[in-house]
Amino acid sequence: MAPTLKVFPTAQEAATAAAAFLAERLRAGGRAVFAGGRTPLAAYRHLAQSDLHWSRIQLIVSDERCVPPEAPERNDRALREALGNLGYTLHAYPAEHGPVAAAEAMEAVVASLVPFDLVLLGLGEDGHTASLFPAHAALEAPTLVAPVFQAPKPPPSRVTLTPRALSQTPTVLYLVTGSGKRAALRAWLAGEDLPPKRIQAPEVLVFADTAAGGDL
Ligand code: 6PG
Repeated sequence: MAPTLKVFPTAQEAATAAAAFLAERLRAGGRAVFAGGRTPLAAYRHLAQSDLHWSRIQLIVSDERCVPPEAPERNDRALREALGNLGYTLHAYPAEHGPVAAAEAMEAVVASLVPFDLVLLGLGEDGHTASLFPAHAALEAPTLVAPVFQAPKPPPSRVTLTPRALSQTPTVLYLVTGSGKRAALRAWLAGEDLPPKRIQAPEVLVFADTAAGGDL
């Protein structure tokens, strides 16, 4: 499905709209993939103010960095800090044990979670999403979770959900802000075979700010 682009004047307004969208879709609970990286943190802080059945919500981050659990770069740690302890279940990757061990440990967990009710992803300046980097083996993985080595964005060792897993959902929402993402977003929307193109769902939405998506 071709992505539908919605442009908001500012990054804050795009984040607020993403939080409202997540709250609406997860109001009664559900299983969702939440993006890593810095862009969605403002949306998570907004979402934390929503009156949801948090105990009925199961979350997993789209990918994790293979660093110790207490490291600030961990996506699960950043998500917990932004959302707070509200009673949701967060399925964390044992990423500290390395890409292969973490991927193997999470395959059955993810198999029990799909199909997801919603997938939220980000976009990197090189067009990567989750830890699916252009021309990387994880894009072709027959599994739901894949190890990642030599990632061009630090840290190099990661574990990621694959297109096979991320496509098992009715809705994928991308939150993309900042001028640094403009070239990658334009290329993807123009049909270039960038990693987001491998993630197929009935509804694919992009919430962007003007810097990233204006006039695209
Ligand atoms: C990660 C992310 C990654 C992220 C993009 C954008 O762990 O690095 O999952 O895919 O979404 O790199 O990152 P920013 O939002 O920080 O720009």
